[in-house]
Amino acid sequence: MDRQGELGIIRAAYARQILAAARVDDPRLDTAFGAIPREDFLGHGPWPVMRWLGEYVLTPDADPVYLYTNDLVGIVPERHLNNGQPSLHAHLIHHAAPATGDHVVHIGTGTGYYTAILAHLAGPSGRVTGIEYDSELAARAKANLARQPNAEILQGDGALVSFDQADVIYVNAGCTRPAESWLDRLADGGRLILPMTSDRGFARTLPSQMASAGAVFRIERRSDDYFATWISPVAIFPCAGSRDEISERALAEAFAKGGWQQVTRLYRDQEIPEERCWLRGPQWCLATA
Ligand SMILES: C[S@@+](CC[C@H](N)C(=O)[O-])C[C@H]1O[C@@H](n2cnc3c(N)ncnc32)[C@H](O)[C@@H]1O
Repeated sequence: MDRQGELGIIRAAYARQILAAARVDDPRLDTAFGAIPREDFLGHGPWPVMRWLGEYVLTPDADPVYLYTNDLVGIVPERHLNNGQPSLHAHLIHHAAPATGDHVVHIGTGTGYYTAILAHLAGPSGRVTGIEYDSELAARAKANLARQPNAEILQGDGALVSFDQADVIYVNAGCTRPAESWLDRLADGGRLILPMTSDRGFARTLPSQMASAGAVFRIERRSDDYFATWISPVAIFPCAGSRDEISERALAEAFAKGGWQQVTRLYRDQEIPEERCWLRGPQWCLATA
């Protein structure tokens, strides 16, 4: 068997392990993780893999086998900017549930690995619009996805760049508030995956502290209603442009009081009584029904 054949088997085993770690039974996602070579998106090895309490360790050599684990891999390690943990993404993408034919918007593509997985799930009749803030990373993502006809990469702030109505908006950076455009452009029945992080929810957050510093919500639009569910704790790179001091403070206070699992709705108005709000921003809140 040639090396590509061997890597195909290693990838299939990796996909199985990742979905098991994510506690997800999703054959389409298993196929997608098994199909996309992670090494095609991370430049030349050896690669800096995050091993222990935020410390990067270079892989012994450039054998792609080292990338088929459940570890974060540094893309720009000096900025703690990583290719995210595969089982976290498996969990979140499973909740986003991209279907064949969907338009998926991926905000914070990095170099494009999870964009390729989303494009695989959307299939030839669907498409992915990836938006990346960092121009160098956007250029790398564009080059890495050049042969993926249903993926387009745009450079800019995902809250400001215009995109067509989306069935899935998959945000991969930590916000303190949802962007208006994400709520406006979510199709009826569409799902927004929204990581919300206080300033503690990044870099050296201990796993035991993570739940009180970052939370991922799944927001599903039904007509003019937005149903919200907490789906995961998170520590993730901050979202440029979707953070401000006032909403950060409110979010940190909300984490301190607890109760994010009780959130069931995102409302786009100011009329919701205080006692129902877990987190209130100007013109929106996360609340119980
Ligand atoms: C945690 S990294 C994830 C990269 C990629 N998803 C991966 O796992 O390989 C977050 C990415 O979001 C990008 N980003 C931050 N703010 C953004 C914004 N407002 N719009 C688009 N991308 C943004 C960062 O430049 C970074 O590449």
